[in-house]
Parts: sequence; structure tokens; C-alpha cells
Amino acid sequence: MRTLLILLVLGVCASWVASKPTQEKKDRVHHNKDLSDHKHDDSKDFQYDHEAFLGKEEAKTFDQLTPEESQERLGKIVDKIDSNNDSYVTAPELLAWIKFVHGRFVSEDVDKQMLLYDKNRDGSVSWEEYSNQTYSHLIGEEEFYDVPDKERYRQMLRRDERRFKQADRDGDLIATREEFTAFLHPEEFDYMQDIIVTETIEDIDKNGDGSVDADEYIADMYTPEADEPEPEWVKTERQQFSDHRDLNKDGKMDKSEISHWINPHDYDHADLEAKHLIYESDKDRDDKLTKKEILDNWNMFVGSQATNYGEDLTRRHDEF
Ligand SMILES: *[C@@H]1O[C@H](CO)[C@@H](O)[C@H](O)[C@H]1NC(C)=O
Ligand SMILES: *[C@@H]1O[C@H](CO)[C@@H](O)[C@H](O)[C@H]1NC(C)=O
Repeated sequence: MRTLLILLVLGVCASWVASKPTQEKKDRVHHNKDLSDHKHDDSKDFQYDHEAFLGKEEAKTFDQLTPEESQERLGKIVDKIDSNNDSYVTAPELLAWIKFVHGRFVSEDVDKQMLLYDKNRDGSVSWEEYSNQTYSHLIGEEEFYDVPDKERYRQMLRRDERRFKQADRDGDLIATREEFTAFLHPEEFDYMQDIIVTETIEDIDKNGDGSVDADEYIADMYTPEADEPEPEWVKTERQQFSDHRDLNKDGKMDKSEISHWINPHDYDHADLEAKHLIYESDKDRDDKLTKKEILDNWNMFVGSQATNYGEDLTRRHDEF
């Protein structure tokens, strides 16, 4: 009897292990220009669309509203998007809106960071102001305190300094608001592309040869577990690497291939999203949306309490 019970328990354990879902893809946020940190997978949720359409902050506000309030506010937004007042929202109007929302998010974020770092309120942030506050525990007397992981902080400091100097065009070590925006949101600025590529390589290139091979590329998104066969999506990613990442087929990605990967030139997120939202809501297939078509599909545009996702614990905190 007892043996049977143990066998049963073992059996349950074995099937539990066997049915354990294979590991999810690591949620890596590259410094590419995207409208949301969420994966765009409408079969799971519309978080990507909500953040693209409303901006990251405003999307959170909508998640607190009742469905009725959300729809009412969406109606008002639709009136704003329809800039020529012809009662139709077209793809160019929607694109202009998404760009406006994204710009507003960046600008509000910079406002917040300026309040934090511009101590003397002169409208600019010096490297000293920034580094004093971010790395106070490495500087001055506090050096004597025992900070765990000091070397990691030193590395972050060096990396920040390099990025700051790149953003600081005139080299006076004082970032104007515009330069500070380039420091915080390098993906918005062409002259920061090089440093983004350099930082990305540093993150992924474990053997330090200055390029990213297939194993490093995979290790960046997947940590194998003992006894687990490589999941299907990892095989797909390997194929992706050889077909689309390693363009000159030498087995690794160099700077130009990395650049092509994180900043594909023929890929405009805002444009694709505008077309996507129209396509998914355009019932009569006239390539433009009425307010009714948008409100009928309101769940895709905005969230509400009913679609509240709660705090997403997997979000990265080390974006900078
Ligand atoms: C559309 O309507 C708004 C609000 O009534 C108005 O401010 C705006 O100037 C109008 N735009 C055009 C192009 O007529
Ligand atoms: C930075 O910290 C040093 C040492 O604590 C201090 O002397 C200096 O005034 C600080 N500078 C700024 C701009 O806060």
C-alpha cells in the first residue's frame, strides 16, 4: 500500500516535471526604438497597442478606469486624432498621433529626470550633478562604506560617463536639456547610434572578441536548464541568426550587423502600428476608421479595470 502511494506520488511528480512549460524567452529590451516594452502579441493581450496608442504613462491611467470611462475618453481622443474634422481617422492621422504620444512620453520623462538631477536648476545637467547623485556611494567619503558589488557600479559609472560624453556635443561636460534627452533616450538620436551598438555588443559578447556569435546571441535570450531539450523557439532563433542576423555568413555579428539588427532602416514601428490598428478595426474595409469602428474595437486601443494587467514584475529596472 505504502509503496503504491510512493509510486503514485512519484508518478505525479514525474508528470508535473514533464508538463512544466519550457522556459519563456528572456525579455530583453534592446535599445531599439520601440513604442512599448511589451511584446506585441495580440493573441495574449493588447498591452503593446495600448502603450503605443496612449503612451506608457497614460496607458496605466486607463487601466484604472471603468470600461465606460475608458470608452468615453477614447471618444474624445478620436476627435483629436481626426485633425481635418472629416469624421474619419486615416492612417496618416493615426501615425501623427502615435508619434505625438511617443514624443510626449519622452519629453515628460526628461522633465522628471531634470527635476531629479538638475540640482542648481539652471536648465542643464552637468556630469558632476548626474554622477554625484547616481554614484554617490562610490564618490567622496562614502567610498569608505562597504558597497556590495562595487565593481559592477564602477562599470556602470564608466559606461554612463562614456554615453554622457557622446551625448554632450560641445564637450563641456554640461548636458543641455536636448543633450540630456540624447543621454537618456539615445534611440531617438542618430548621433547616438554608434554608442547604442557598442553597448549592445558589450552586453552580449561574453568572450570579449568584439562580436556576437550564435551561442552568445542565444544565451542572451535563453538559459538552458539541465535535462531540458532545446525548445522549438530557440531553434527558430538559431535559424533566424544564420538567415537574417549574420548577413555576411561568417558565423558572427559585427558592428554593422548589430546595427542592422537593432535599428532596421526599413522598419518604422509607429507606421506599422498605425496600419495595424486600422486593419484590425476597419469593418467596412475602406482603409479609414469612423469613431464607431474604433469604439467597437475599443479594447485594442485602450485598457480599463476589466483589462487591468496589474504590476508586471518581469519589467526591467536597469534600462539605463
Ligand atoms: C477641427 O475642430 C477643432 C475643434 O473644433 C478645431 O480646433 C480645428 O481647428 C478644426 N480643424 C480644422 C482643420 O478644421
Ligand atoms: C559633488 O560632490 C562633491 C563631493 O561630495 C562636492 O564637493 C561637489 O560640490 C558636488 N557637486 C555637485 C555639482 O553637486
